[in-house]
Amino acid sequence: MSEHLTLAQIDQAAEAVRARLVRQPSVGIILGSGLGGLANSVEGAVHIPYSEIPGWPVSTVQGHQGRLVIGELEGQTVLVMQGRAHYYEGYSMPQVGLPIRVMQRLRIEMVIITNAAGSVNPDFSPGDLMLITDHLNLIGMAGLSPLRGPNLDDLGPRFPDMSQVYDRQLGKLARQVAAEAGIPLREGIYVCLAGPSFETPADLRFLRMIGADAVGMSTVPEATVARHGGQRVLGISGISNKANLDGETLTTHEEVLAAGEIIVPRLIALIRGVLRRL
Ligand code: HPA
Repeated sequence: MSEHLTLAQIDQAAEAVRARLVRQPSVGIILGSGLGGLANSVEGAVHIPYSEIPGWPVSTVQGHQGRLVIGELEGQTVLVMQGRAHYYEGYSMPQVGLPIRVMQRLRIEMVIITNAAGSVNPDFSPGDLMLITDHLNLIGMAGLSPLRGPNLDDLGPRFPDMSQVYDRQLGKLARQVAAEAGIPLREGIYVCLAGPSFETPADLRFLRMIGADAVGMSTVPEATVARHGGQRVLGISGISNKANLDGETLTTHEEVLAAGEIIVPRLIALIRGVLRRL
């Protein structure tokens, strides 16, 4: 696959998914590292392994199952990505954005993007959920944008607005659901780095200084493609570890996956509540 995606390539992938659809999905959901358990709550599910969708990036990371789960959740037809691919795995940025493009071609107008993230805000703890109110596109500022290359005019504008990436109405809904269900919900700014190495203490002091609350290696490219195509985005981080500002403790992928076990039930309750109120 060339570095840039063509509409024909996107439509080939979309057709492979469309052929298996029983109903029109209304919401797309991307599940982050260790958060795949939510897909098991989907009822009447059709499963499509990513390997059966042309051009679809297959995750090579432990904790990412690698299939679409399409079915019913709280009265909505959802298309859930149980696992995602990241830039650091060697995929191009447009490839990382392909799943969102496919959702756009399937006329899915809203996406819920989740991730596991390290907390840069010292008030946050592992297990917390954080509503993403905005992001720092550090990876994009360094030149890595999924929108680089010929613009797909059928999907969105050359210079898409990013003044409100994370939908305010959906954020309000998430706050209401969290308050009613007694789920603690933090809020803040997510910063995306390329990874795969975790941050040095100096990196983290820098990220804190520029206003980040949580750091991870995903979500921002997908949210950027989603906004380019006019979709509404709800972004939720599951805080899996405290970023190590003091240089005294190690950050490990095992820790990230272990925190997922605590985060998943809360995330399921939050997402179910949001879907119920749509
Ligand atoms: N840093 C970057 N990405 C992450 C982290 C982290 O501490 N935890 C989970 N994803």
